[in-house]
Amino acid sequence: MLERTFVYLKPDAVRRGLVGEIIKRFEGRGLKLVALKMKRMTREEAEELYKEHRGKSFFQKLVDFVTSSPVILMVLEGPSAVKVVRHTVGATDPLEAAPGSIRGDFGVNVTKNLIHASDSVESAQREMSIFFRDMEIEDYPLPIEKDLVLEG
Ligand SMILES: Nc1ncnc2c1ncn2[C@@H]1O[C@H](COP(=O)(O)OP(=O)(O)OP(=O)(O)O)[C@@H](O)[C@H]1O
Ligand SMILES: [Mg+2]
Repeated sequence: MLERTFVYLKPDAVRRGLVGEIIKRFEGRGLKLVALKMKRMTREEAEELYKEHRGKSFFQKLVDFVTSSPVILMVLEGPSAVKVVRHTVGATDPLEAAPGSIRGDFGVNVTKNLIHASDSVESAQREMSIFFRDMEIEDYPLPIEKDLVLEG
């Protein structure tokens, strides 16, 4: 099932120079970049993105951190993209994340865990609409796509 998911690289990933490494992993798994931009997230955007966590002990620290310097926002498309990306990213706490995953290979801190990835197609739709207008999401063919599915 072709899906779109929303991902952003948190300030620690940008500051540590891991942007290329992380995007390379998604490209390697056959995911298609259909939107990409750098920006400094506003507090309003961060609070909207994380509204399910409002009131939790880590909420303010999380909002402070993700607004501390620019992030890289993207939309990725591919078969089962939500699940493929979540597996590539690894568990929320890098100490629990499997080696080979992004957080398992580069992360050590649950706040500074490098990356966010939507947990469902519905969340992805809501989250990408905070940062991207429909016209900013591109549609183009990726020749490898036919090799990612059984048919064809
Ligand atoms: N117990 C915690 N202590 C500190 N920070 C936390 C804790 N739980 C979650 N967070 C932070 O809040 C973010 C959102 O939490 P969530 O439970 O949605 O994790 P996730 O779905 O694995 O990660 P993400 O939504 O960032 O892809 C996490 O990425 C992490 O930075
Ligand atoms: Mg989440």
